[in-house]
Amino acid sequence: MTSRRFHDRVERDVPAMLEIRGLDVSYGAIRALREVDLDVNAGEIVAIVGSNGAGKSTLLRTISGLVRPRAGKIVFESRPIVGFKPHRIVAMGISHVPEGRRIFTDLTVWENLALAAQFRKPSTFDQDLETVCRWFPRIRERLKQSAGTLSGGEQQMLAIGRAIMARPKLLLLDEPSLGLAPNLVKEIFRILQDINRAGTTVCLVEQNAHMALEVAHRAYVLETGQVALSGPGRELLDDPRVQAAYLGG
Ligand SMILES: Nc1ncnc2c1ncn2[C@@H]1O[C@H](COP(=O)(O)OP(=O)(O)O)[C@@H](O)[C@H]1O
Ligand SMILES: [Mg+2]
Repeated sequence: MTSRRFHDRVERDVPAMLEIRGLDVSYGAIRALREVDLDVNAGEIVAIVGSNGAGKSTLLRTISGLVRPRAGKIVFESRPIVGFKPHRIVAMGISHVPEGRRIFTDLTVWENLALAAQFRKPSTFDQDLETVCRWFPRIRERLKQSAGTLSGGEQQMLAIGRAIMARPKLLLLDEPSLGLAPNLVKEIFRILQDINRAGTTVCLVEQNAHMALEVAHRAYVLETGQVALSGPGRELLDDPRVQAAYLGG
Protein backbone atom coordinates (compact mmCIF):
# COMPACT_ATOMS: atom_id res chain seq x y z
CA MET A 1 0.00 0.00 0.00
CA THR A 2 1.26 3.42 -0.86
CA SER A 3 0.02 6.94 -0.51
CA ARG A 4 -0.29 9.23 -3.47
CA ARG A 5 3.03 10.82 -2.55
CA PHE A 6 4.88 7.54 -2.92
CA HIS A 7 3.69 6.43 -6.24
CA ASP A 8 3.66 2.69 -6.73
CA ARG A 9 4.75 2.69 -10.32
CA VAL A 10 6.27 -0.66 -11.05
CA GLU A 11 10.00 -0.34 -11.50
CA ARG A 12 10.75 -1.43 -15.02
CA ASP A 13 12.77 -0.40 -17.99
CA VAL A 14 9.89 0.40 -20.29
CA PRO A 15 7.81 3.48 -19.63
CA ALA A 16 4.14 2.99 -18.78
CA MET A 17 1.78 2.77 -21.75
CA LEU A 18 -0.22 5.62 -20.26
CA GLU A 19 1.45 8.08 -17.95
CA ILE A 20 -0.55 10.80 -16.21
CA ARG A 21 1.20 13.42 -14.10
CA GLY A 22 -0.17 16.35 -12.14
CA LEU A 23 -3.53 16.29 -13.87
CA ASP A 24 -5.88 19.13 -12.91
CA VAL A 25 -9.35 19.43 -14.39
CA SER A 26 -11.97 22.05 -13.54
CA TYR A 27 -15.51 22.73 -14.64
CA GLY A 28 -15.69 26.46 -13.97
CA ALA A 29 -15.21 26.79 -10.22
CA ILE A 30 -15.55 23.04 -9.60
CA ARG A 31 -12.22 21.25 -9.33
CA ALA A 32 -12.95 17.75 -10.56
CA LEU A 33 -9.36 16.40 -10.54
CA ARG A 34 -6.36 17.60 -8.54
CA GLU A 35 -2.76 16.62 -9.16
CA VAL A 36 -3.63 13.14 -10.32
CA ASP A 37 -0.67 10.85 -11.03
CA LEU A 38 -1.54 7.52 -12.61
CA ASP A 39 0.14 4.84 -14.72
CA VAL A 40 -1.28 2.09 -16.85
CA ASN A 41 1.34 -0.44 -17.96
CA ALA A 42 0.92 -2.41 -21.15
CA GLY A 43 -0.94 -5.64 -20.46
CA GLU A 44 -2.53 -4.53 -17.20
CA ILE A 45 -6.08 -4.20 -15.99
CA VAL A 46 -6.11 -1.04 -13.89
CA ALA A 47 -9.21 -0.15 -11.88
CA ILE A 48 -10.17 3.29 -10.65
CA VAL A 49 -12.72 3.13 -7.89
CA GLY A 50 -14.44 5.86 -5.93
CA SER A 51 -17.80 7.25 -4.93
CA ASN A 52 -20.19 9.15 -7.12
CA GLY A 53 -18.66 12.53 -7.98
CA ALA A 54 -15.07 11.47 -7.23
CA GLY A 55 -13.94 12.42 -10.73
CA LYS A 56 -13.75 8.97 -12.35
CA SER A 57 -15.65 9.85 -15.52
CA THR A 58 -13.80 13.13 -15.78
CA LEU A 59 -10.51 11.23 -15.73
CA LEU A 60 -11.53 8.96 -18.61
CA ARG A 61 -13.05 11.84 -20.56
CA THR A 62 -9.82 13.80 -20.19
CA ILE A 63 -7.71 10.88 -21.42
CA SER A 64 -10.04 10.59 -24.45
CA GLY A 65 -9.71 14.27 -25.30
CA LEU A 66 -13.35 15.11 -24.51
CA VAL A 67 -12.34 17.37 -21.62
CA ARG A 68 -9.30 19.60 -21.63
CA PRO A 69 -7.23 19.68 -18.45
CA ARG A 70 -6.17 22.90 -16.80
CA ALA A 71 -2.76 21.46 -16.04
CA GLY A 72 -0.79 18.26 -16.18
CA LYS A 73 0.37 15.81 -18.78
CA ILE A 74 -1.01 12.67 -20.36
CA VAL A 75 1.52 10.61 -22.28
CA PHE A 76 0.41 7.61 -24.33
CA GLU A 77 3.14 5.39 -25.75
CA SER A 78 5.67 8.17 -25.17
CA ARG A 79 3.59 10.82 -26.97
CA PRO A 80 1.92 13.70 -25.09
CA ILE A 81 -1.76 13.68 -26.12
CA VAL A 82 -3.25 16.64 -24.24
CA GLY A 83 -4.90 18.87 -26.83
CA PHE A 84 -5.40 16.10 -29.38
CA LYS A 85 -8.92 15.73 -30.80
CA PRO A 86 -10.88 12.66 -29.62
CA HIS A 87 -10.84 10.97 -33.06
CA ARG A 88 -7.07 11.27 -33.20
CA ILE A 89 -6.74 9.69 -29.77
CA VAL A 90 -8.98 6.81 -30.94
CA ALA A 91 -6.76 6.40 -34.00
CA MET A 92 -3.70 6.18 -31.73
CA GLY A 93 -5.28 3.21 -29.97
CA ILE A 94 -7.43 4.43 -27.07
CA SER A 95 -11.13 3.48 -27.15
CA HIS A 96 -13.63 4.69 -24.58
CA VAL A 97 -16.83 2.92 -23.55
CA PRO A 98 -18.78 5.80 -22.00
CA GLU A 99 -20.93 5.75 -18.90
CA GLY A 100 -24.49 4.89 -19.89
CA ARG A 101 -23.37 3.05 -23.05
CA ARG A 102 -24.68 5.65 -25.54
CA ILE A 103 -25.67 3.19 -28.20
CA PHE A 104 -28.13 4.12 -30.96
CA THR A 105 -31.31 2.34 -29.87
CA ASP A 106 -33.15 3.03 -33.15
CA LEU A 107 -30.45 1.32 -35.20
CA THR A 108 -29.74 -2.37 -35.43
CA VAL A 109 -26.86 -3.95 -33.57
CA TRP A 110 -25.01 -4.39 -36.87
CA GLU A 111 -25.56 -0.71 -37.76
CA ASN A 112 -24.18 0.37 -34.39
CA LEU A 113 -21.02 -1.63 -35.06
CA ALA A 114 -20.79 -0.40 -38.65
CA LEU A 115 -21.01 3.22 -37.48
CA ALA A 116 -18.10 2.64 -35.13
CA ALA A 117 -16.04 1.41 -38.06
CA GLN A 118 -16.99 4.13 -40.54
CA PHE A 119 -13.69 5.99 -40.33
CA ARG A 120 -11.62 2.88 -40.71
CA LYS A 121 -10.44 0.84 -43.64
CA PRO A 122 -13.50 -1.05 -44.96
CA SER A 123 -11.28 -4.05 -45.66
CA THR A 124 -11.01 -4.87 -41.96
CA PHE A 125 -14.72 -4.53 -41.13
CA ASP A 126 -15.68 -8.20 -41.50
CA GLN A 127 -12.66 -9.29 -39.50
CA ASP A 128 -13.34 -6.78 -36.70
CA LEU A 129 -17.02 -7.73 -36.62
CA GLU A 130 -15.99 -11.38 -36.31
CA THR A 131 -13.70 -10.49 -33.39
CA VAL A 132 -16.57 -8.76 -31.59
CA CYS A 133 -18.93 -11.68 -32.22
CA ARG A 134 -16.34 -14.13 -30.96
CA TRP A 135 -16.01 -12.25 -27.65
CA PHE A 136 -19.76 -11.68 -27.40
CA PRO A 137 -21.77 -14.59 -28.87
CA ARG A 138 -24.97 -12.86 -27.70
CA ILE A 139 -24.15 -10.02 -30.09
CA ARG A 140 -23.79 -12.39 -33.04
CA GLU A 141 -27.26 -13.76 -32.38
CA ARG A 142 -28.74 -10.27 -32.35
CA LEU A 143 -27.02 -8.44 -35.21
CA LYS A 144 -30.27 -7.71 -37.08
CA GLN A 145 -32.21 -6.72 -34.00
CA SER A 146 -32.79 -3.09 -33.10
CA ALA A 147 -30.32 -2.18 -30.34
CA GLY A 148 -33.17 -0.77 -28.23
CA THR A 149 -34.56 -4.29 -27.81
CA LEU A 150 -31.38 -5.56 -26.14
CA SER A 151 -31.24 -6.12 -22.40
CA GLY A 152 -29.05 -3.79 -20.35
CA GLY A 153 -26.27 -6.36 -20.26
CA GLU A 154 -26.42 -6.90 -24.01
CA GLN A 155 -26.35 -3.15 -24.58
CA GLN A 156 -23.19 -2.99 -22.47
CA MET A 157 -21.70 -5.79 -24.56
CA LEU A 158 -22.59 -3.87 -27.71
CA ALA A 159 -20.97 -0.73 -26.30
CA ILE A 160 -17.79 -2.69 -25.56
CA GLY A 161 -17.98 -4.36 -28.97
CA ARG A 162 -18.25 -0.98 -30.63
CA ALA A 163 -15.10 0.18 -28.85
CA ILE A 164 -13.28 -2.99 -29.88
CA MET A 165 -14.09 -2.35 -33.56
CA ALA A 166 -11.39 0.34 -33.41
CA ARG A 167 -8.76 -2.29 -32.42
CA PRO A 168 -7.69 -0.43 -29.27
CA LYS A 169 -4.42 -1.00 -27.48
CA LEU A 170 -5.99 0.59 -24.41
CA LEU A 171 -9.67 0.11 -23.61
CA LEU A 172 -11.26 2.61 -21.21
CA LEU A 173 -14.52 1.54 -19.57
CA ASP A 174 -16.78 3.79 -17.53
CA GLU A 175 -18.93 1.85 -15.04
CA PRO A 176 -19.47 -1.27 -17.18
CA SER A 177 -21.45 -2.92 -14.36
CA LEU A 178 -23.88 -0.05 -13.77
CA GLY A 179 -27.47 -1.25 -13.46
CA LEU A 180 -26.71 -4.86 -14.39
CA ALA A 181 -27.72 -8.04 -12.59
CA PRO A 182 -24.82 -9.75 -10.74
CA ASN A 183 -24.62 -12.72 -13.12
CA LEU A 184 -24.31 -10.40 -16.12
CA VAL A 185 -21.67 -8.33 -14.33
CA LYS A 186 -19.71 -11.55 -13.82
CA GLU A 187 -20.09 -12.52 -17.47
CA ILE A 188 -18.92 -9.11 -18.69
CA PHE A 189 -15.93 -9.02 -16.34
CA ARG A 190 -14.95 -12.54 -17.38
CA ILE A 191 -15.00 -11.48 -21.03
CA LEU A 192 -13.02 -8.33 -20.20
CA GLN A 193 -10.37 -10.50 -18.55
CA ASP A 194 -10.25 -12.67 -21.68
CA ILE A 195 -9.91 -9.60 -23.90
CA ASN A 196 -7.10 -8.41 -21.62
CA ARG A 197 -5.30 -11.77 -21.77
CA ALA A 198 -5.52 -11.64 -25.54
CA GLY A 199 -3.43 -8.45 -25.45
CA THR A 200 -5.62 -5.40 -24.83
CA THR A 201 -4.72 -3.19 -21.89
CA VAL A 202 -7.75 -2.21 -19.80
CA CYS A 203 -8.48 0.77 -17.58
CA LEU A 204 -11.87 0.64 -15.93
CA VAL A 205 -13.76 2.93 -13.65
CA GLU A 206 -16.26 1.51 -11.17
CA GLN A 207 -18.44 2.35 -8.21
CA ASN A 208 -18.78 -1.44 -7.90
CA ALA A 209 -15.41 -1.62 -6.17
CA HIS A 210 -15.57 -5.28 -5.25
CA MET A 211 -15.77 -6.67 -8.77
CA ALA A 212 -13.28 -4.16 -10.15
CA LEU A 213 -10.66 -4.82 -7.45
CA GLU A 214 -11.01 -8.56 -7.92
CA VAL A 215 -10.03 -8.44 -11.57
CA ALA A 216 -7.58 -5.52 -11.47
CA HIS A 217 -3.82 -6.02 -11.43
CA ARG A 218 -3.53 -2.58 -9.87
CA ALA A 219 -6.03 -0.04 -8.69
CA TYR A 220 -6.42 3.55 -7.61
CA VAL A 221 -8.94 4.98 -5.19
CA LEU A 222 -10.14 8.42 -6.18
CA GLU A 223 -11.62 10.69 -3.51
CA THR A 224 -12.91 14.16 -4.39
CA GLY A 225 -10.64 14.36 -7.39
CA GLN A 226 -7.47 13.08 -5.73
CA VAL A 227 -5.73 9.72 -5.64
CA ALA A 228 -6.21 8.60 -2.02
CA LEU A 229 -4.73 5.11 -2.29
CA SER A 230 -3.18 2.87 -4.88
CA GLY A 231 -1.79 -0.63 -5.05
CA PRO A 232 -2.45 -4.15 -6.31
CA GLY A 233 -6.21 -4.83 -6.65
CA ARG A 234 -6.07 -7.67 -4.13
CA GLU A 235 -4.32 -5.53 -1.53
CA LEU A 236 -6.89 -2.79 -1.83
CA LEU A 237 -9.65 -5.38 -1.53
CA ASP A 238 -8.20 -6.39 1.85
CA ASP A 239 -7.49 -2.84 3.01
CA PRO A 240 -9.67 -1.85 6.00
CA ARG A 241 -9.99 1.72 4.72
CA VAL A 242 -11.28 0.50 1.36
CA GLN A 243 -13.58 -2.01 3.01
CA ALA A 244 -15.08 0.62 5.28
CA ALA A 245 -15.59 3.20 2.56
CA TYR A 246 -16.42 1.16 -0.54
CA LEU A 247 -17.18 -2.44 0.27
CA GLY A 248 -19.71 -2.01 3.06
CA GLY A 249 -17.28 -3.80 5.39
N1 LIG B 1 -20.02 18.78 -17.33
C1 LIG B 1 -19.85 19.13 -16.04
N2 LIG B 1 -20.04 20.41 -15.63
C2 LIG B 1 -19.86 20.76 -14.35
N3 LIG B 1 -19.48 19.90 -13.38
C3 LIG B 1 -19.28 18.63 -13.72
C4 LIG B 1 -19.45 18.18 -15.07
N4 LIG B 1 -19.17 16.84 -15.10
C5 LIG B 1 -18.84 16.50 -13.85
N5 LIG B 1 -18.90 17.57 -13.02
C6 LIG B 1 -18.55 17.58 -11.58
O1 LIG B 1 -17.22 17.11 -11.46
C7 LIG B 1 -17.09 16.23 -10.35
C8 LIG B 1 -16.63 14.86 -10.83
O2 LIG B 1 -17.65 14.28 -11.62
P1 LIG B 1 -17.46 12.90 -12.38
O3 LIG B 1 -16.18 12.90 -13.08
O4 LIG B 1 -18.68 12.67 -13.20
O5 LIG B 1 -17.40 11.86 -11.16
P2 LIG B 1 -17.70 10.29 -11.11
O6 LIG B 1 -17.63 9.76 -12.50
O7 LIG B 1 -16.64 9.76 -10.22
O8 LIG B 1 -19.06 10.15 -10.51
C9 LIG B 1 -18.46 16.23 -9.66
O9 LIG B 1 -18.43 17.20 -8.66
C10 LIG B 1 -19.40 16.62 -10.77
O10 LIG B 1 -20.55 17.23 -10.25
MG1 LIG C 1 -19.00 8.68 -13.58
